[in-house]
Amino acid sequence: MNGVETAGPNAEQIKFWNSDGGANFVRHQTALDGMLGPYGRKAMAAGGLKNGDVVLDIGCGCGDSSIEMSRRVGTTGEVVGVDISEVMLQRAEDLAAHQELTNVFFELADVEVDSMHRDSFDLAFSRFGIMFFNDPVVALRNVHKVLHDEGRLAFTCWQTLDKSPWIALQMQSVLPLLAEEDRPAPADPNAPGPFSFGNPDRLNKILTEAGFCNIQMEPYAPSVALFGLKDMEEVLDFALEVGPAKAFFAEMDKKTTATARDAVRAAYQPYLTDEGVVMEAAAWIVTADKT
Ligand SMILES: C[S@@+](CC[C@H](N)C(=O)[O-])C[C@H]1O[C@@H](n2cnc3c(N)ncnc32)[C@H](O)[C@@H]1O
Repeated sequence: MNGVETAGPNAEQIKFWNSDGGANFVRHQTALDGMLGPYGRKAMAAGGLKNGDVVLDIGCGCGDSSIEMSRRVGTTGEVVGVDISEVMLQRAEDLAAHQELTNVFFELADVEVDSMHRDSFDLAFSRFGIMFFNDPVVALRNVHKVLHDEGRLAFTCWQTLDKSPWIALQMQSVLPLLAEEDRPAPADPNAPGPFSFGNPDRLNKILTEAGFCNIQMEPYAPSVALFGLKDMEEVLDFALEVGPAKAFFAEMDKKTTATARDAVRAAYQPYLTDEGVVMEAAAWIVTADKT
């Protein structure tokens, strides 16, 4: 792995994914892969992933999608996973080594800033690793550049926050318990983050400006059991550790923490089934061609 520039336009994301954000993904990898896997496979199918393809996996994280694609492209194909998180890439490398895979490689690189060291990928793919760029047009131009002329782009990203009750409900339940001055200002929906590609018109414009053609966006909103867990208390432990209300919980006294947890539990309760807390989690499956 080479070093990634920790200053630069994505400094904040680099810090996040090398601290709490990355650590959470490493710690809970199995549960998160279980939850996110179906979205990735849908994007692989939409992108026409096939034997022999040379694939760039953008924001590959702990490597689950890269490893799955390396098996699908066979020994004549290759997958290069790139990411800004050393801790997540270390996990990815360990997994690939453990499985003795020889056609998957991982590189520490900021897709917006760094060169990807080649220019002839068949497919640029991402499973929720493409919405965090300070300037998405610049980053996607970089991706466009490293595809060969018949190259394709296929990725999955979340729709807008209001379509993701598993995240939105948590904040809605906790906000009334915070003093007025502690409530966060409404987030900019277009700022780098999980929902920044939610607006299809904006996403279409970004991809067009980056040079992509034949842009298609299909909604995909399966019902998912949160974090693959069946027990409500385990779901709450997990959700409050990785979710957006975590920062507020850290500031609360014991009594308020218990009240806040009760509030999130009450909001999740209507969705509790034998399979766990089951909600729709709406993503886009996006495809485009280089030319
Ligand atoms: C939500 S995680 C998804 C990880 C993985 N694709 C998965 O599905 O488990 C987002 C990933 O994007 C990576 N990322 C964010 N900004 C990036 C950038 N500018 N260049 C490369 N990777 C980036 C993060 O480090 C993180 O691993």
